[in-house]
Amino acid sequence: MKKTSQFPCVNGKISIAPSILSADLFRLGEEVVQVQQAGADWLHIDIMDGHFVPNLSFGPAVVRSLNGKTNLPLDVHLMVEKPSLFAEAFAKAGADLLTVHIEANDPLEQVLSNIHSLGVKTGISIKPDTNPDVLIPYLGRIDLILVMSVYPGFGGQAFLPGAPDQIRKVRQLITNSGRKIWLEVDGGINAQTAKLAVQAGADALVAGNAIFSSADPAGALNQIRQASPEI
Ligand code: DX5
Ligand code: ZN
Repeated sequence: MKKTSQFPCVNGKISIAPSILSADLFRLGEEVVQVQQAGADWLHIDIMDGHFVPNLSFGPAVVRSLNGKTNLPLDVHLMVEKPSLFAEAFAKAGADLLTVHIEANDPLEQVLSNIHSLGVKTGISIKPDTNPDVLIPYLGRIDLILVMSVYPGFGGQAFLPGAPDQIRKVRQLITNSGRKIWLEVDGGINAQTAKLAVQAGADALVAGNAIFSSADPAGALNQIRQASPEI
């Protein structure tokens, strides 16, 4: 299936990226179709290696299974210690955007060049305690910054009170850079916290538990959309 959405996102619109970490994997295809029909913009896929975070999740095979079956861009979040070992496999599996953590144990410049040369958009994520200034050397070359509003590793955690401040700082860095870099926020997003994140400067929101653990995922997605002031 040909991708129809512009990636990473449409100017002026908040992009909503349901995270399949909280999906019912027995019904993964159905759940993806459901959020796609409900107006999701991207599909967020969390990759965990048991080292960078104390949890395991998906590998390239899951991305490959989704590629071509949905027209949602595949937003792949690598929570792994050594992204250089996996970037190519995820790019070949169909990732449209690969986000790596600045705290990973790898030469980031090289990893970003590799991802870029594979024709995939690049993102950098920061954990809640990371000073956003560490992003400055990369602002000239990345497409997206992913601000973690929980400590990475698990779905269903509460949005951290310090997150809006962190988002505001990153928004300022982006403005100073003069480039269009998307600011995605991940962790604890629901209709209440979506508003806080967007007011602080987010233009893309990941939501796992709020959407997939709801009895009405389409309704939950719409509530997040309605609560997010347009930019
Ligand atoms: C957490 C992951 C998130 C997670 C978000 O480490 O990076 O993408 O799926 O889940 P919720 O929305 O449940 O906090
Ligand atoms: Zn994520």
